[in-house]
Amino acid sequence: MSDDFLTRLPKAELHLHIEGTLEPELMFQLAQRNGVTLPYADIEAARAAYDFTDLQSFLDLYYQGMSVLLTAQDFEDLAMAYFQRAAKEGVVHVEMHVDPQAHLVRGVSFDTLMEGLVRARQRALAELDLSSAMILAFLRDRPAAEAMEVLESSRHWHEHFSAVGLDSAELGNPPSKFRDVFLHAKALGLARVAHAGEEGPPGYIREALDELDVCRIDHGVRAVEDVELLERLSDGGTVLTVCPLSNVRLKVVERLEDHTLPQLVDAGLVVTLNSDDPAYFGGGLRDNYAECQRAFGWSEDTLRWLAGNAIDAAFMDEDRRAMLR
Ligand code: ADE
Ligand code: ZN
Repeated sequence: MSDDFLTRLPKAELHLHIEGTLEPELMFQLAQRNGVTLPYADIEAARAAYDFTDLQSFLDLYYQGMSVLLTAQDFEDLAMAYFQRAAKEGVVHVEMHVDPQAHLVRGVSFDTLMEGLVRARQRALAELDLSSAMILAFLRDRPAAEAMEVLESSRHWHEHFSAVGLDSAELGNPPSKFRDVFLHAKALGLARVAHAGEEGPPGYIREALDELDVCRIDHGVRAVEDVELLERLSDGGTVLTVCPLSNVRLKVVERLEDHTLPQLVDAGLVVTLNSDDPAYFGGGLRDNYAECQRAFGWSEDTLRWLAGNAIDAAFMDEDRRAMLR
């Protein structure tokens, strides 16, 4: 990695699924360590299979890949491998979505994944000066009652979470389905974010604001279809965590040049750039900045503004923010 402007720019990653950082190399190592059989002949075959047609085609492989994560050590290794790569790209802060339900259904306990992830976070701060936060994400294609049960039964870990989130298959699973869960999370003192307007309509973004009382919208790229909504997002200063390379790989847009990002920026929204699931989408946070610079001809000032938005919107203490700003 060259020591260029984009690498030196202090970048915060606000939209990252820690399970989506599992590179095929580590997937194969953990499969061997844990005696898990993978559906790929080798690392190249795994990468070749990452040819997605939509969100669901990705989610199928994403959940399958997680089958190698069984012990606290696996989760620590997963997160440390990502933190080390990210630090080399000039990432100074990471907010990771975690999908407990995807592990609980496989018999992996909340305690197991948290022990590993908390250790990795402590090591990242001490060894890499990389701070982090965690977002407890609910799988929207599973029942709301299950999400409520996960929220309640994980209370002894809540001090480690800054927010709850909502991810997985969007279409047919509107935010309103999780109204009570998010109300309860709010009562417990947790902030709220939600994926909305990735594949789902602008109405889902409105619902996330109205019914889940979120402070950030993950993706939100379909907001451009609704002028009034754009105005509302702009006036309210709602942060959008946009994932440009993810949107291309999941065919939300055909090519990066067709992305709605410049329209969102022009409409005055608080936009941030993020990598979502870098192991599956072929690019980390620096790549997302670099590809946008190439596609949209953005100036260093614009890139600095985008990076500053993420640091301003991050769940971090004010001393650290002031230091990174
Ligand atoms: N889980 C992991 N990545 C996701 C994405 N891009 N959208 C929804 N759920 C996800
Ligand atoms: Zn996401």
